Amino acid sequence: MATDPTTPPVVEFRSVTKTYAAGTRRAFTAIKEVSFRVDDIPGHGEFVSILGPSGCGKSTILRLIAGLLPQHPPTSGEVLMRGKPVTHPGPDRGMVFQDYSSFTNRSVLDNVAFGLECDGMPKMERYDLARDWIGRVGLDPVKDLHKYPHELSGGMRQRVAIARTLILKPRIILMDEPFGALDPVTRQQMQDLLVGLWRELEATVFFVTHDVSEAVYLGDRVLILSNSPGTILTEEAVPPPNRPSREMRREPDFVNRVFEISSLLEKLEEAAQHS
Ligand SMILES: Nc1ncnc2c1ncn2[C@@H]1O[C@H](COP(=O)(O)OP(=O)(O)OP(=O)(O)O)[C@@H](O)[C@H]1O
Ligand SMILES: [Mg+2]
Repeated sequence: MATDPTTPPVVEFRSVTKTYAAGTRRAFTAIKEVSFRVDDIPGHGEFVSILGPSGCGKSTILRLIAGLLPQHPPTSGEVLMRGKPVTHPGPDRGMVFQDYSSFTNRSVLDNVAFGLECDGMPKMERYDLARDWIGRVGLDPVKDLHKYPHELSGGMRQRVAIARTLILKPRIILMDEPFGALDPVTRQQMQDLLVGLWRELEATVFFVTHDVSEAVYLGDRVLILSNSPGTILTEEAVPPPNRPSREMRREPDFVNRVFEISSLLEKLEEAAQHS
């Protein structure tokens, strides 16, 4: 997959450091001199998995790309999107969080249609699109339509959150442990669903997870962060998810890779506990 050398990277971190409460006694450096670039791969987009010990700054990195406070702005260094500094959140970046971030007082239909409503799309049009996306994420576009989040299972709620974000066709999708609270079977279904939708949108995805096999299965590339303050420890290209999760996970190459990365992460966690 060739990248075009004349177009700037989709996202680039240039020696980015984030110190929370900088200049006070509570100053805390979460990430230090983080540099990486993700190029535009026409007709593909890249899937970047991010792994690292707890508290190493994974969410900080994602929120810096999103332009969200208080992570934005970085204390030093540059966060660039297509060659320009990120200045604020925008519809070109969609975020999916771990905690099923839907509005509790809105039905599935109105949750999924929310972004289009904000854009001023007429009701009939946005409801048609929302119904389509509700179906695409595997919810029932008739029965589930008027349910409220409290009437849904965790997996269903996360499907709503994904539909709500992807309906806006963001060029960059930021996912912070989106499947962390799901049971293993639902989780695998959601992974395969995400791969299908990502292929369709050809977007760049940043996917934070604590699950090494999930990172290796989904990613084109895996970034591994060091202990706090986080720096990029290694960056590994991995085979893309071109077969269903259940098949790929049994292959010796996949198993070995997961074992190696897990061992590295265990060492990092141990070192953190003894420091
Ligand atoms: N708003 C904030 N103010 C002060 N410190 C913060 C803030 N947000 C995060 N931190 C600290 O920065 C460090 C990195 O936090 P971050 O949430 O980015 O880690 P993480 O890698 O996502 O962790 P986890 O795997 O547990 O989700 C942590 O030590 C955290 O306590
Ligand atoms: Mg986090």
